[in-house]
Amino acid sequence: MDKIRITGGRALQGVIPISGAKNAALPLMAACLLTDKPLELSNMPELADIATMAKLLEQHGATCERRKHKMTLCAAGVENVKAPYELVRTMRASVLVLGPLLARFGKAEVSLPGGCAIGTRPIDMHLKALEEMGASIKLRDGYVHASVKGRLKGANIIFDQVSVGATENILMAACLADGTTTITNAAREPEVADLARCLAAMGAEIEGIGTSRMTIRGKKKLHGASHRVVADRIEMGTYITCAAVTHGVVELTGADRAMLLPVIEKYEEAGVQFSDTKKGLRVSCPDGIRGVDVMTQPHPGFPTDMQAQFMALMSRARGASMITETVFENRFMHVPELVRMGANINVHGRSAMVRGVRNLRGAEVMATDLRASVSLVIAALAAKGDTLIHRVYHLDRGYERLEEKLAACGADIERVG
Ligand code: EPZ
Repeated sequence: MDKIRITGGRALQGVIPISGAKNAALPLMAACLLTDKPLELSNMPELADIATMAKLLEQHGATCERRKHKMTLCAAGVENVKAPYELVRTMRASVLVLGPLLARFGKAEVSLPGGCAIGTRPIDMHLKALEEMGASIKLRDGYVHASVKGRLKGANIIFDQVSVGATENILMAACLADGTTTITNAAREPEVADLARCLAAMGAEIEGIGTSRMTIRGKKKLHGASHRVVADRIEMGTYITCAAVTHGVVELTGADRAMLLPVIEKYEEAGVQFSDTKKGLRVSCPDGIRGVDVMTQPHPGFPTDMQAQFMALMSRARGASMITETVFENRFMHVPELVRMGANINVHGRSAMVRGVRNLRGAEVMATDLRASVSLVIAALAAKGDTLIHRVYHLDRGYERLEEKLAACGADIERVG
């Protein structure tokens, strides 16, 4: 079923469990390619993107044994180093198999991911760094043909701009390289640190985990490990927003405020109140929301993956909010849909001026990408009347049991037609 109906106006009350992070689980799954021993992942989210990554790894010849929220992966039987277009185009994170395949097998044939709704999202930095590590990279027929004689070589990699995916690809490749690799201007997202901790558990030697400069001493082999996927800070921020926009009181369990400090600080500025509980974090918003400005930045700045959600919240704030998106060039696809619900938003280049309105109204709207979709859910929870959101398969890529978690807190939400 491809639509969700929401009747807004109810204050959320209750408990929402936070799942494992999609953006940690995906690179962690790709890391299984670095060894022929089993990699056991726990606290795995049950999401469409996870199933796609499992399908991709299985067509390479790896095994992915799934049990509820756990997965055991083993790449002992990998023979095929080609990641086909039909899978890569559905999930850009597929490009994360490039570094591990090249490092372990000396070759890889990975479809170029192509653009997506939020931007062109090139992978030039991934490729340039792999060339600096000795790989030969050729682009032909829409594929990256990568190869290296013997092992990749350690190198000093400096990224011109922060890239989560490029950092993760090079981090994984460097673990099996001959010599030492330094990554300068590395991404510091908690999901990158989670991957580095898992690689260390697999025998990799990494210094500077969680910092913008990492040093990796390459090994001939890595062994298996068991690793618990870090909690999903973006899911957490999303449900914080659902609670705030409905003036509800919600406890998020399995959540760690330390991973979301830039968001929590900005939300406190806007009037949201937080208190730690034994199981996680309690969110309330007794005095309503005031407009505050935000600019997205790589971690530890305000995450781009929370921009659409924040905009939905600011649509109902007292006053105005200037929201500037510095990471992706086209991440305002949610604006026209929010405007159809009565929001007052004007986009000027990379900035959007949001003037809070007293009421949003339910409408038929269209989801375009994962985070834009959930911003429509947030607006619908606060809107008067019914909202019907089309193309909600985008939601299923990144939010486990969203309707269930919201309905358990009193939201009037159901999947239809
Ligand atoms: C990861 O994407 C996340 N995806 C994205 O989450 C997230 O928005 C993004 O990081 C930024 O935090 C996963 O982790 C699976 P980047 P990634 O490389 O790695 C440019 C979600 O909603 N760039 O950090 O693709 C790029 O165009 C998704 O969960 C190059 O120019 O993002 C962008 O403008 C959406 N050349 C900027 O860097 C390159 O070679 C940051 O992209 C690589 C990136």
